[in-house]
Amino acid sequence: MRLALPALLLFSTTALAQTPTATLTIDASHPTGQVSPTLYGIMSEEINHSWDGGLYAELLNPSAIQVFGRRPNRPPQNWILIERGTAEAAIATDPNNGPSAALPASLKLDVTSADAHSTAGFFNTGYWGIPVRPATTYQGSFYAKAADTTLGPVTIRLVNNQSGAVAATATVPALDTEWKQYTFTLKTAPAVATSSDNRIEYLFAHPGTAWFTLLSLFPPTWHDEPNGFRPDLMDKLAALHPKFLRFPGGNFLEGQHLADHFDWKKTIGPLVDRPGHMAPWMYRSSDDMGLLEMLTWCDDLHMEPLLAIFDGYTLDQQHVNPGHDLEPYVQSALDEIQYVTGDASTKWGAERARDGHPEPFALHDVEIGNEEYHDPSGTYNARFAQFYNAIKKQYPQLQIVASAPVTSVRPDIVDDNDHEAHRHFYRTANQFFDDVHRYDNYDRSGPKILVGEWATREGTPTTNMGAALGDAAWMTGLERNSDLVVMASYAPLFVNVSPFAMQWEGNLIGFDAMSSYGSPSYWAQVMFSGHVGDQILASTLDSPNPRLFESVTADSKTGRLHLKLVNASSAPQQVAIKITGAAHIRPAMTLTTLHGATTKDTNSITDPKHIVPTVTHATGVSSSFHHTVPAYSIQILDIDRAP
Ligand code: AHR
Repeated sequence: MRLALPALLLFSTTALAQTPTATLTIDASHPTGQVSPTLYGIMSEEINHSWDGGLYAELLNPSAIQVFGRRPNRPPQNWILIERGTAEAAIATDPNNGPSAALPASLKLDVTSADAHSTAGFFNTGYWGIPVRPATTYQGSFYAKAADTTLGPVTIRLVNNQSGAVAATATVPALDTEWKQYTFTLKTAPAVATSSDNRIEYLFAHPGTAWFTLLSLFPPTWHDEPNGFRPDLMDKLAALHPKFLRFPGGNFLEGQHLADHFDWKKTIGPLVDRPGHMAPWMYRSSDDMGLLEMLTWCDDLHMEPLLAIFDGYTLDQQHVNPGHDLEPYVQSALDEIQYVTGDASTKWGAERARDGHPEPFALHDVEIGNEEYHDPSGTYNARFAQFYNAIKKQYPQLQIVASAPVTSVRPDIVDDNDHEAHRHFYRTANQFFDDVHRYDNYDRSGPKILVGEWATREGTPTTNMGAALGDAAWMTGLERNSDLVVMASYAPLFVNVSPFAMQWEGNLIGFDAMSSYGSPSYWAQVMFSGHVGDQILASTLDSPNPRLFESVTADSKTGRLHLKLVNASSAPQQVAIKITGAAHIRPAMTLTTLHGATTKDTNSITDPKHIVPTVTHATGVSSSFHHTVPAYSIQILDIDRAP
């Protein structure tokens, strides 16, 4: 966050007479409930190249060679032939020569003529570019097999597409005639220019034939984890203080057809044993970001997994009949839970240990399916009960979330939806303003609530200030009712903003090959989750401005009050703040403000910090004082009580 000097003129605590004053009354003596410790989480799935070409730091696209389209022998997607000088060569997809049953295809290179001055080979330009930075080490690898040893060594280079400048070179000795994995390191010099317009080349100086797949290149990753995550994206997520991760979907869990659902067993183990699958978002998922990587991601950011379990229902509205037909899917779910939580003496816990993670992961919540209210067959009631009973029998401690209302058994938590729109809460700002009191008088005797997907969808590729105001207004309602709303996760989390990478408009965090930025909505989330405390305080707002929203929480350990005020109107709003039940209020407060000049104001990959929170300080706070919230602003007032 940007730290600014006291900006008393801008955020005055003295009276201004633009519009009639609103009154916010707070009772600090009697918390009305506990803020759910898991209130703010994140949701993620493979969409918008969130993982492949996003969080998962693999740079080559695709790494594993797949048969693409109807003509199996044409060149592999995104891998391009190089013939320099008088060299002659061809590349093709070989559908029947691969290193494993999961990866049966490969890139076949036939070099008929080449020498040291006229090399041949192939190149790849990554996911809309390969980021090259000075003094940086890249770890590379590939699987290969040669017809014989005539091809000689492989020269691998990082090359700028515009200038042809070589940023780094490595050599791999002559390839074996059996499938093997080869590794190499590319190091850039301190003088190399930063750019993303680069390619990686694999070059040969002799005739011969060889096959390749799982061609991989990793830049430095978050905390140097092997096959790890992009540091800039992880840092942005860490600033959200997410308490849980809802994964792996979303539609990605369901798949378009039954054959394309998220089949977790095909996403674990060595990458060479992962076939990948067609994702519902119009591109293939490598599944190199598999179940264990997602759990590692949870550990890295101290998030609880909210594990969504495939329950036999897909996007094309196929369903598996409850009863006998569903049993293999129920068993798969039980195996999955054992993979996550079982110790190494269990079958799937031992599998996880073999995969490199002997310690079980903490798991408290599983969700059965996704958006099951779309299922016209009416079988969710019975399918849910079948999963619920089987899971509770073995894991009575788990909280089971229904992805649609059910009557067969009582779920612990229900993933709520916009009942009128019949979908998760993807709305306009106005719709959120109108529904801010949704949970104020909700039935507290029923299951707890998960708001598993929600967002104000205004602005593209990432949302704008108007969306942030809608989001913040909605979050005041979630927070005031977080005794009931125990978890909430905005979606989608990520978008690769490169041309044609996006399938869904209105996302939280944007990135390209080189850099990333948070939308105003992202910053609203950072502000809310970073100033939440553990107690909900009773508050009433009497306002002439229908676009003024509030919630008040407190930290029981420090006594600090967090007043959240959202002014979504075009005029500043003066608020008379009256705090009862707090004996000694310190006169100084900290103000965190997110402000846009208009609702369309936004951040972008070229202007990433146009709208970011500012932190200022103001005085004059007492049990009764005035404060003016600027137009189009989200503010958090941190007020301390003296002991
Ligand atoms: O977040 C995008 C999609 O919206 C999710 O995959 C799906 O659950 C919802 O309909």
